[in-house]
Amino acid sequence: MRMVDLIVKKREGGVLSKEEIAFIVAGYTSGVIPDYQMAAWLMAVFFRGMDAGETALLTEQMAASGEYADLSGIDGIKIDKHSTGGVGDKTTLVVAPMAASCGLCVAKMSGRGLGFTGGTIDKLESIPGFQTTLEPGHFRKVLQDVGCAVTGAGGNLAPADKLMYALRDVTGTVESIPLIASSIMSKKLAVGTDGVVLDVKVGRGAFMKDLESARRLAETMVEIGKRAGRRTAALLTDMDRPLGRTIGNALEVEEAVNTLRGEGPSDLVRLCVELCATMLCVSGTHTLEQGRLCASKALKSGAALERFRKMIEAQGGDGRICDDPSLLPQASSTVPVLAQKDGYIAAMDTQHIGNAACILGAGREKKGDQVDSAAGIRLRKKCGDSVTVGEEIAVLHTNCPDKLSQAERMVREGIRIGLPPVQSPLIVDWIGL
Ligand code: URA
Repeated sequence: MRMVDLIVKKREGGVLSKEEIAFIVAGYTSGVIPDYQMAAWLMAVFFRGMDAGETALLTEQMAASGEYADLSGIDGIKIDKHSTGGVGDKTTLVVAPMAASCGLCVAKMSGRGLGFTGGTIDKLESIPGFQTTLEPGHFRKVLQDVGCAVTGAGGNLAPADKLMYALRDVTGTVESIPLIASSIMSKKLAVGTDGVVLDVKVGRGAFMKDLESARRLAETMVEIGKRAGRRTAALLTDMDRPLGRTIGNALEVEEAVNTLRGEGPSDLVRLCVELCATMLCVSGTHTLEQGRLCASKALKSGAALERFRKMIEAQGGDGRICDDPSLLPQASSTVPVLAQKDGYIAAMDTQHIGNAACILGAGREKKGDQVDSAAGIRLRKKCGDSVTVGEEIAVLHTNCPDKLSQAERMVREGIRIGLPPVQSPLIVDWIGL
């Protein structure tokens, strides 16, 4: 087999066989196929796409390029939860302990922030002492003892994805549904849970800006999971507004703790309950309605908060943040953004607000940058709220005061004050249930 023939075959819209896909993935992972040929092939896939069978084969081969996590011998039904990335999305911090309190074993491998979207690992690292690089044995022990564990994607899991993702990032081939779906699902298959629940975000603050693409991405991932024998479902959820009232790592952990105490903002609570219910439904132990009841009970009883504390302590962190979130890093400068006219919050440009949080230090400009755990934005007003001139719409938090004026301008530009908006639903659809 020659790589050049496979590039031409895909360029002409051909369908690749299992042997051909295996040749490409193994050849690129071992360094036999050079970047320039892989880049040409990725661009051919970008324009020509892949059918469901090819996408599933590509995913399997990417998962098989490295090791599989060994979850055997751990009690309970293992379920993973994944978000395609959004602004203010701290759901994993709430949902993992919530689902564990409802009897599931939540084995979660998470990433860092990407562009204007936040990442669970950055959020957890704002908890003093919290370790996000767990050895496989430690990961297994936390899962067994606590019922939920979150670790960074390290080791030799799906190495083909790491290489391909880095190449896609610099060759204009990220926004391809079969490539995104295989990238995400190869890591899920390598972790090897019994089931996966995907939160596919749609809107200005997400990778997928329109509903049709988000739906296709969700359907593609659900199909990959099912072909691989994993129980898989997806929720399509709105990212045309930030989730909750905080954006930024420590601020989001604080909001997650408040939510686990039963004091969360209604949109965040609703989505967390729905995600947990979907995980319980996918596990086969509950119907969706029973799952909602179990999830709400785990919040109200305080059981989910206690699980979160246990997970933090088992991963080396300071569990006292569950009683006193002021132990989390605090910014040296906080500045309010005031309304310049009366009206209603008519729209929030979520991507813009996510970018403003990055400028304050909550995200990275380039790979490898350090994030400032304390930086971010606290929203005093949400879409649909009324405001009067001079009232606080948001508060900016940073340790770099020289960034404040740029971030303030961006937040102001990103928030439109006008007539009350027609609110789109937070949960748009369920796929695969
Ligand atoms: N997240 C991933 O893991 N891969 C992609 O391609 C996009 C988002």
